[in-house]
Amino acid sequence: EKMKKEAKVLSQKMLSEGIFDMWLETEMAKDVRPGQFVGVYPENRSTLLPRPISICEVDKVRSAIRLVYRVVGSGTTEFSKASEGDSLMILGPLGNGFPIHEAAGKRAVVIGGGIGVPPLLETAKRMSERSDAEAPSKISAVMGYRNSDTFLSDEFSRYAEMHIASEDGSVGTKGNVIDAMKNDNVECDVIFACGPMPMLKGIKAYAESIGAKAYLSLEERMACGVGACLGCVCKTKEVDEHSHVHNARICTDGPVFDADTLDL
Ligand code: FES
Repeated sequence: EKMKKEAKVLSQKMLSEGIFDMWLETEMAKDVRPGQFVGVYPENRSTLLPRPISICEVDKVRSAIRLVYRVVGSGTTEFSKASEGDSLMILGPLGNGFPIHEAAGKRAVVIGGGIGVPPLLETAKRMSERSDAEAPSKISAVMGYRNSDTFLSDEFSRYAEMHIASEDGSVGTKGNVIDAMKNDNVECDVIFACGPMPMLKGIKAYAESIGAKAYLSLEERMACGVGACLGCVCKTKEVDEHSHVHNARICTDGPVFDADTLDL
């Protein structure tokens, strides 16, 4: 059973309109896998449940994790007001994370849409740090944004060949991440993706059409993140002995699933 722990805010800034970038000092930094998340507890106890926020980056030297999150309600508004020296109660690391070993020797593509972009940064970074047999042969990043506010994209370009899609066409390919993949002929054997459900559905279909594997993080569907609200149930293709389709809880069974096992 994981315990709530106090984490010290090392820094916080606004990264883009309504999106905040916070570094927290915590010993859990040493065992985070890319694609995992933490539960952050609001001080205002109108709810006892934490807010799930994905881990964007890990700094083992400073023993710190970076959270990049959108302000969407009272909890995240409160977190956005924390500054250096304050502390927050967090639980984690939670969830399974991306199976990056599946990209060994292959052309890996990390794909993020909107606030699904942050967890792919540590994913791309970890893969780029490998020089052994588990290293991918190539790492590409395809990020989808609404407009020219392409937060984090400059950081991705340190670890991956960068491709951008924007809905309004102001940067990169006009359209979605699949349009950018096709337009830029992104080479792809295995995909790690996070973003809104329509994007993930599109990626699942596209991966099937080109014979690539896809691992999808459904974290945007999470509410409490700790198995308490049942707000995150999704259908999988597993069938039990009574022919019932198996339902998975995204927060405790995921948030990352092999696309082949999902019924999106
Ligand atoms: Fe609440 Fe999964 S997010 S049970």
